[in-house]
Amino acid sequence: MPLTRTIDRPRRYSVRRSTAAFTATLALVAVLTFDHTAATVHAAQPLGSFGLNDGLPLTVAHRGDPAAAPENTMPAFEAALRSGAQVLELDLQATADGHAVLFHDEVLDRTTNGSGPIAERTLAELQTLDAGSWYGSAWAGTSIPTFTEFLPLLQSSNARALIELKGIWTPDELRPVAAAIYRAGVQDRVVLASFETPTLLDLWREAPSLARAVVVRRLPDDPVAFAAAHGASTVVTSLRSFQVEPEAAERLRAAGLTIIVYTLNRADLWQQAVDLGVDGVVTDAPRRLAQVQAATRG
Ligand code: G3P
Ligand code: CA
Repeated sequence: MPLTRTIDRPRRYSVRRSTAAFTATLALVAVLTFDHTAATVHAAQPLGSFGLNDGLPLTVAHRGDPAAAPENTMPAFEAALRSGAQVLELDLQATADGHAVLFHDEVLDRTTNGSGPIAERTLAELQTLDAGSWYGSAWAGTSIPTFTEFLPLLQSSNARALIELKGIWTPDELRPVAAAIYRAGVQDRVVLASFETPTLLDLWREAPSLARAVVVRRLPDDPVAFAAAHGASTVVTSLRSFQVEPEAAERLRAAGLTIIVYTLNRADLWQQAVDLGVDGVVTDAPRRLAQVQAATRG
């Protein structure tokens, strides 16, 4: 069933573009204060906002398309691209020897034939694991992808990516991630997100021109100030945040911030997200949501 489309979006987005420019200026001032070396880079590319949709939220495929293939694996991201999702969401973690790999849980047990904390394993150890059999025998032998294995897929598509950094990342671990993004030439299509504020601050320092997103289960009292304090152009949060604080969406929009809600898998919740005027919806059912969005567009 199509979603109901009620909001006067074109006007809202043109207002957002001018407020976004204002936010970019503020962010630049913040960077100048925070890290002088970084400022020139940030000035060239102030925002990497998702706020470019046509009035309906973008479909953000959560860990790829987990309805079609094991989460955070290459087949899941290939399926997500086929699903019609415009944004791929993925989780990154650092291995014991400093490589970035796509993986959600802190421990290997649920989605591989290994066990224990992923952070204690080297890349070579992780590459011996099966990350597909838990999902179905057809997926036996599927491996945990490295970030550098994932990037060509993004590069060859038109999709954007919401890259969530799980846990605390050191500057030494962040630098190769940023470098790989620039090498692949996808810097304008990615937003790096984290629940961990120290990681966002380190990322701001190390790669100030890459767009950042704060991820929070519940919005803080002043979400605009919170985003600004972390140099974030995007806020990722739950739908519940806006049920508790109905004016928050408008405040975030007025500040030029992009709003993504997670993780919604039902049509009634998708409609609530449309009514709120959010920019993107993270879902485990990207094919269904993309189909509903297409039907609404007509
Ligand atoms: O995009 C945010 C969302 O993915 C955070 O939740 O636990 O699925 O990574 P989680
Ligand atoms: Ca995630």
